Amino acid sequence: AQQCLPYTERIDCHPGPFTGNNREECIAMGCTFCDADVPDWNVPVCYLPKSYGYKMDGQPEDTGNGFRVTLKRATSLTMFGSDSETITLEVFFQSDYRLRIKVTDGTSRYEVPLQVDPAQPATGNRLYDVEFSNDPVFAFKVIRKATGTVIFDTSLGGLTFSDQFLQISTRLASKNLYGIGENEQLTFRHNFDKFPVFPLFTKDTFPDGNANMYGVHPQYTVLEEDGNAHSVLFVNSNAQEFVVLPAPGLLHRTIGGIIDIYIFLGPTPENTAQQYTEAIGRTPIPPYWALGFQLCKYGYDNLETMKAVVDRTLAAQIPQDVQYGDIDIMDGNKDFTVSQDRFGGLPAYVRELKAKGVKFMTILDPAIALGEAPGTYRAADLGKEMGVFLNNSDGTIFEGRVWPSSNVGFPDFSKNATREWWITMIKEFHDLLEFDALWIDMNEPDNFGNGDTNKGCPNNKYNNPPYVPKIRGDYLPTSTLCMDIEDSISLQYNTHSLYGWLESEPTAAGVLAATGKRPYVFSRSTYVGTGRWASHWLGDNYSKWRDIKTSIIGTLQFNQFGVPFVGPDICGHQGHVEEELCQRWHELGAFYPFSRNHNAYGMKDQDPASFGPAVAESTKKALEIRYTYLPYLYTLFFYHYTQGSTVFRALWHEFPTEIATQGIDTQFLLGPGFMVSPALNEGQRSVNAYFPNTRWFNLREGTEVNARGTTLNLNTPLDTINLHLRGGIIYPTQEPALNTELARRNDIGITIALDDNNSADGRMYNDDGDMLNPTESGKYYLVHHTYANGELISTVENNGYPRMAEIKLDTIRILGAPQNLSTATGFN
Ligand code: GLC
Repeated sequence: AQQCLPYTERIDCHPGPFTGNNREECIAMGCTFCDADVPDWNVPVCYLPKSYGYKMDGQPEDTGNGFRVTLKRATSLTMFGSDSETITLEVFFQSDYRLRIKVTDGTSRYEVPLQVDPAQPATGNRLYDVEFSNDPVFAFKVIRKATGTVIFDTSLGGLTFSDQFLQISTRLASKNLYGIGENEQLTFRHNFDKFPVFPLFTKDTFPDGNANMYGVHPQYTVLEEDGNAHSVLFVNSNAQEFVVLPAPGLLHRTIGGIIDIYIFLGPTPENTAQQYTEAIGRTPIPPYWALGFQLCKYGYDNLETMKAVVDRTLAAQIPQDVQYGDIDIMDGNKDFTVSQDRFGGLPAYVRELKAKGVKFMTILDPAIALGEAPGTYRAADLGKEMGVFLNNSDGTIFEGRVWPSSNVGFPDFSKNATREWWITMIKEFHDLLEFDALWIDMNEPDNFGNGDTNKGCPNNKYNNPPYVPKIRGDYLPTSTLCMDIEDSISLQYNTHSLYGWLESEPTAAGVLAATGKRPYVFSRSTYVGTGRWASHWLGDNYSKWRDIKTSIIGTLQFNQFGVPFVGPDICGHQGHVEEELCQRWHELGAFYPFSRNHNAYGMKDQDPASFGPAVAESTKKALEIRYTYLPYLYTLFFYHYTQGSTVFRALWHEFPTEIATQGIDTQFLLGPGFMVSPALNEGQRSVNAYFPNTRWFNLREGTEVNARGTTLNLNTPLDTINLHLRGGIIYPTQEPALNTELARRNDIGITIALDDNNSADGRMYNDDGDMLNPTESGKYYLVHHTYANGELISTVENNGYPRMAEIKLDTIRILGAPQNLSTATGFN
């Protein structure tokens, strides 16, 4: 009988389809063929022999701060041709908890222009060791010293470094694998069956499970068996994919760039998040108003329709902080314009809204209409004059189709001139319409055709590479630009997935220049480090029960990716939503970091007041709790920006050793202690909620939960969402109001939820809500509350926001107290 490698140890030798006979073509390539005894799913039947790979050429050289190893190709088998015969692998010990592994081939290959910030310097107490082996081929391992756990291990094989195909595999320390985005995953923890493939390449694709979507985050976190965690980043921006292997393991394949891997050793899940964002950058604290509830719809016919939504929301006494105008407000869907016929009164209305404390946001698409007569459309005229548009490889302006009625050009955001032009346009637009912040969309970049509208794309190695990852459309230029277009960094082939990322910084700079306030931008397309300039929403989801579930997963993922201010379109974008789903979704939606109801063109209204009183009432109830706890949420963003903590957390982030938490993605925590256990199914009137092993209180009733480390079935009437507070934490609160401008003047309070020792601890951060750089300038207020033995002590740690003195502390609520509060000190 044939000697077959167990299917769990196989790396595919031929990830594309064969042209004819699998067995013959496979063997002719030098790969091994074996289709006996494999489960009936995607097991590679044509796989790489264990002798495939590179061998060390001499011993690893100790560089003082890591190693350098020269590797020579030890096989004649080639997967896609043009293999590099000699490559260099360098290991950099960047700190006790961070290491970098970089593989290059001595030629000048594209590298992502990613800013990676330094870590705390190593002290000599490294959390990890690195080991090399050379039999049968080169492999390396990263080991967590404290436990001996192998964190990264390339001994599964498959190492490939060729011109347009690079691949590396690792065994994983456990099957608790989270991350790899952006794609819509149906579970937060990955499933290890059937060799699932996660392609990454920015595209406007509907969230239909596993497909590449708007952003690229080649990052994952593994929770090890003992509750330690680590995260890994693959710095690459080419079309790429991860295959989840049953070993358990992970295979990364990309079609360009180099191999450049960062490993963050934690050891707690929150430590890995902090270390990751220390490297890639953190999201500045959003303006306070942006934490309020937001309403949007694509397809308001005119200003009257928009006003009617604001009016009925107010009439139902539902808090609202932001109203949007989508592309409907534009003249012919052209950026930087306002339709005179349908939205002529909008500038005045925006001022009216602002006077009441409601902000206004609108949208920009990158694509600029080119077909307007010269002198009639400033964005195109000035853009052409400043040479901002991307050209085809033949030197003509690349023309695509998006929302405007004529062909469009795509600004090259890698150029300084484009940045200047964009900022100028945003400022001039603000003179016309006083928006408070901007939403950037269609920046994958999205094109309604494949390549240039008039010419398509030339057939060459960039548009038609030897291997295409399993992206939607199978053709790189599908719904986007040609890959042989050059920008000032490189070719679209390399930089395509950076388009929205490159647009984010100039947009934030434009908003700052226009408003003079803390800029707030959110973007559909994101890349590693986008959080420095922009946040994200989860795109064009469906009005389906499936999507209310995946919204939690997507929000958890983006918190892991360092973009914590995120949420989906509440009630779903595509499709007419049913009332029950929309009611539940508003209840849950009150607890996303980013809370916005948005809806697609032609869909029935779904703002909360458009339904009967039941939806309006339960939305109001849930949002009043959100607004009550906004000081807590705002403080979480302070912790994100200053320490890298997540805002929206999986239960395992706080309770990593409780096995039951590891697979939970139907409940979540805001920060360390505010637990939300929503109803996510039609007709559901009770929820099975897991209570990690600590003290919990019912948020509304203040009663202690009689369960720890176990699941409780909670009665969940249609108008209620389950909310619990973890003991040991002091939560800052404030009286809610119809928007944050009003609420911020109200009395504040604290909710002290006691732990088993009857003590608790917590901070409240505040600043003026929309100034630039409050933490850097010290213009903020930070108070530390501690409670023990019936004594509350409040210490003001930073007193740089004088208006805090005008706000009264009105309520102190103590949950779980055996005795009354005896003294409170530190209050004025
Ligand atoms: C895209 C966006 C969506 C927006 C629409 C019109 O589909 O994802 O949110 O409403 O474009 O601008």
